[in-house]
Amino acid sequence: MASPVAQVSETTSSAAATSSSSSLVFCHFMIGIVSNRASSSDYDDDMKRAKELGIDAFALNIGTNDFTDAQLGYAYASAAENDMKLFLSFDFSAWSTSDGASVGAKVKQYANQTAQLFVDGGVFVSSFIGDGVDVDAIVSAAGQDLFFAPNFAPGDGDFGNIQGALNWMAWPNNGDNKAPTAGANLTVSDGDTTYIDALDGKAYIAPASPWFFTHYGTEVSYSKNWVFPSDLLWQQRWEEILTLKPRFVEIITWNDYGESHYIGPLSSPHTDDGASKWAMDMPHDGWAEMAKPYIAAYKAGSTDVLPYITDEQLVYWYRPTPRDVDCDSTDTTMTGTANNASGNFFRGKPNGWESMQDEVFVVSLLKTAAEVQVQSGDQSQTFQAPAGVSAFSVPMGVGQQKFTATRDGTTLFSATSLKDIVDECICGIYNFNAYVGTVPAPTTISQLQPDGLSMLTLGLQVACPTNTLTAGTASATSD
Ligand SMILES: *[C@@H]1O[C@H](CO)[C@@H](O)[C@H](O)[C@H]1NC(C)=O
Ligand SMILES: *[C@@H]1O[C@H](CO)[C@@H](O)[C@H](O)[C@H]1NC(C)=O
Ligand SMILES: *[C@@H]1O[C@H](CO)[C@@H](O)[C@H](O)[C@H]1NC(C)=O
Repeated sequence: MASPVAQVSETTSSAAATSSSSSLVFCHFMIGIVSNRASSSDYDDDMKRAKELGIDAFALNIGTNDFTDAQLGYAYASAAENDMKLFLSFDFSAWSTSDGASVGAKVKQYANQTAQLFVDGGVFVSSFIGDGVDVDAIVSAAGQDLFFAPNFAPGDGDFGNIQGALNWMAWPNNGDNKAPTAGANLTVSDGDTTYIDALDGKAYIAPASPWFFTHYGTEVSYSKNWVFPSDLLWQQRWEEILTLKPRFVEIITWNDYGESHYIGPLSSPHTDDGASKWAMDMPHDGWAEMAKPYIAAYKAGSTDVLPYITDEQLVYWYRPTPRDVDCDSTDTTMTGTANNASGNFFRGKPNGWESMQDEVFVVSLLKTAAEVQVQSGDQSQTFQAPAGVSAFSVPMGVGQQKFTATRDGTTLFSATSLKDIVDECICGIYNFNAYVGTVPAPTTISQLQPDGLSMLTLGLQVACPTNTLTAGTASATSD
């Protein structure tokens, strides 16, 4: 905390070190669902991909599981090997606010790892919630300077004894962890203002997230079922961040399949906590690609993404079914009893479903202007897309989804999505996750691995065709 200059680390040579004192991009990574990883090499692909996108560090979300230390050992070893940085993000839904000394001891345990992120001379440490934890106990047990930027809540947490804070609320909300209502309607940018005021000049970690849908039924003990309005959020939020210029950005998340806000690949090794029901065949890789020029613009302090577009493409996404499709007779939330102590369980359509529009969303990343044609079912629309990044949406049509960009009458690229929009309940459930594709289409499609599918059928009432997408075969899905 003594030095005014960020030290990304003493050993870093390239990207992270040149990212300067002011702007760093983090990505939240759930250690809790990667207990099946067996060596540091199981982390290499994540480290390489994230670094290639311009992400400086993973925020490793940790609970108190027996496997945590083994996984942290692998993660730190892989990050060192791949020139990435890491820091611990204590999840206080598992840690207790009376655990200050153990939190500090855990910080100390990893502080001397090559891949540990340092900022302003302190070991970087963050959290998910944790208001009321004894910060002095953490610092004392860590035995060294920290850059502590927890997810304390303005009004609840003590902002006096910290170096920065993370705002987790990356989605429009009602102020009570659900979708907005007419009477309680907070934007993500309202949250920015509240945090920046509470921080009074200290470092702000602004959140950016593409989506939120979770749908755990009574087949598991942690039943929860809601959405936050997402639609074009990913593009709109990055535009806001370029203007806001926060000191740090945290992407929420790399691999939280359960809440549908992963930007990492489906193939990233992980276990199944029941999320495969809505993550299977729903790659989000296009969202990671879309973030790349925004990350570069943000780090350069620019509000203009155009100079940072290296590969022209279209990124598109949509929910796989219109929102009025009725799955009540087969959905996993409709039968059985759930513990609703959290207040997060709802039967049927996810709470907040009315906030999602039946539209197909398209973002164009272009070096010069082009014409973008979107065919959704039997409806077609054409847009004049300028150079840079632009967002469009068209009404969702059941059937094939086709996307074409033309310039001066010549087709630049065109692709038919591997996933049709269908007027039925896929695997019997309400699936409000997004299918994300790119044009040009990728040559391989990322798929859940066996460990990531282990709970697929638990609670399902109909057959569930698995890993049906195959690159190069448009409309390959079928029942
Ligand atoms: C790093 O710190 C831990 C805990 O303080 C200690 O056990 C370990 O020996 C240290 N490792 C190195 C390489 O200094
Ligand atoms: C919340 O406000 C936004 C504009 O900021 C509006 O588009 C949206 O419809 C509102 N939501 C509700 C539920 O009223
Ligand atoms: C769960 O609790 C929330 C908050 O009290 C409530 O709105 C919801 O209806 C409850 N769910 C069920 C299925 O009763």
